[in-house]
Amino acid sequence: MWALSVCWVLLGTLGAGSAQLMFKKIHNVSFDVCNTTEIIIPCIVTNLQRFSREEMFLNWKIDGKEFFTYDGYENRYFKNNTFLSVDLLDILNLTAGVASIKMSLKEAVPGNYTCIVVERNREGEHVIELRYGTPFWFQPVESFLVIGAAILAVALFLLQVGYVAVKFEMSLLKKISFGLVALIVMIIVVPGAALLVKEGFTLASQFGLGLVVLPTILLVPPLFFVFQSVFEKPPLFAIILIILKALGYLIAVAGLATSLPECPPKQTSVVIAGLGIIDIVAAIAFIYMVVIVKNPVCIAVP
Ligand SMILES: *[C@@H]1O[C@H](CO)[C@@H](O)[C@H](O)[C@H]1NC(C)=O
Ligand SMILES: *[C@@H]1O[C@H](CO)[C@@H](O)[C@H](O)[C@H]1NC(C)=O
Ligand SMILES: *[C@@H]1O[C@H](CO)[C@@H](O)[C@H](O)[C@H]1NC(C)=O
Ligand SMILES: *[C@@H]1O[C@H](CO)[C@@H](O)[C@H](O)[C@H]1NC(C)=O
Ligand SMILES: *[C@@H]1O[C@H](CO)[C@@H](O)[C@H](O)[C@H]1NC(C)=O
Repeated sequence: MWALSVCWVLLGTLGAGSAQLMFKKIHNVSFDVCNTTEIIIPCIVTNLQRFSREEMFLNWKIDGKEFFTYDGYENRYFKNNTFLSVDLLDILNLTAGVASIKMSLKEAVPGNYTCIVVERNREGEHVIELRYGTPFWFQPVESFLVIGAAILAVALFLLQVGYVAVKFEMSLLKKISFGLVALIVMIIVVPGAALLVKEGFTLASQFGLGLVVLPTILLVPPLFFVFQSVFEKPPLFAIILIILKALGYLIAVAGLATSLPECPPKQTSVVIAGLGIIDIVAAIAFIYMVVIVKNPVCIAVP
């Protein structure tokens, strides 16, 4: 009996008597342009004992400076006026140990946040580092690939036109028209690219993506007319290439449509794949034209 009560006292010392609150071990969280609504800084006590709001007191500091407190007994908040959006994430769950806070993206500053929780005579503190991640909607490498693929499509088109113009007969009107098409596409793509690489998930970056992807359609029908300068009547293979190019465009647009509202965008690879198909088809078309020139016999075959 005596031994049992000693045990009981010892257990008590380890638990409540140690006066130490423990926390879920989350040491860092990141946020970026996609956290448009609110930022959550987690702080979860794992060994609350009294489960009573009245006996709790919270104190949040950033880099050592207090900016938010909550007094459970008086049910009262204090907020520094540079952090007016800060609030408890879930006050109903405070007594379950959820001392996490939320705040708007605008007021969030990267730094070391200290969460201090007091429960009657027990106390504990936990530091969570809030880091700023990427400032971009489309990652730089994704923007680079999308813009690069669109510009490459224009370059390949000009290469086809140039080659055919030299090797075959092409009317001046056609040359000017093809040149204009390439020029128009570039005039739309270049400002679009400038908008796409801007920081943030904004209307500007979304608009930019549209401007880079959409005008590539202008390069699809002219392929038919380029082929027309090579053949009287473009053979089936040429027609298939044109259809494939149109298909690449449709894939790119499907990727665009799904990416536009998303942050982070999950279908960037579809956009890149679609534009990639346009480029590959254009390259194959060019090689095909070169092969035709080298083997003029083919031309005679209707
Ligand atoms: C960030 O937190 C994760 C898990 O919470 C941990 O594995 C990682 O080591 C931490 N990184 C740093 C630099 O503290
Ligand atoms: C930011 O948002 C992502 C998902 O969109 C989420 O996983 C992350 O926890 C958020 N960061 C913070 C600090 O709230
Ligand atoms: C609010 O925070 C800023 C910067 O951390 C500090 O300079 C200012 O004194 C704080 N204001 C109050 C009322 O605590
Ligand atoms: C309390 O938190 C748990 C998970 O931690 C959640 O499932 C539950 O919905 C929360 N309760 C309230 C009232 O928000
Ligand atoms: C947070 O603290 C760690 C360790 O003390 C330090 O390496 C890191 O730079 C701090 N982070 C910020 C954003 O101040």
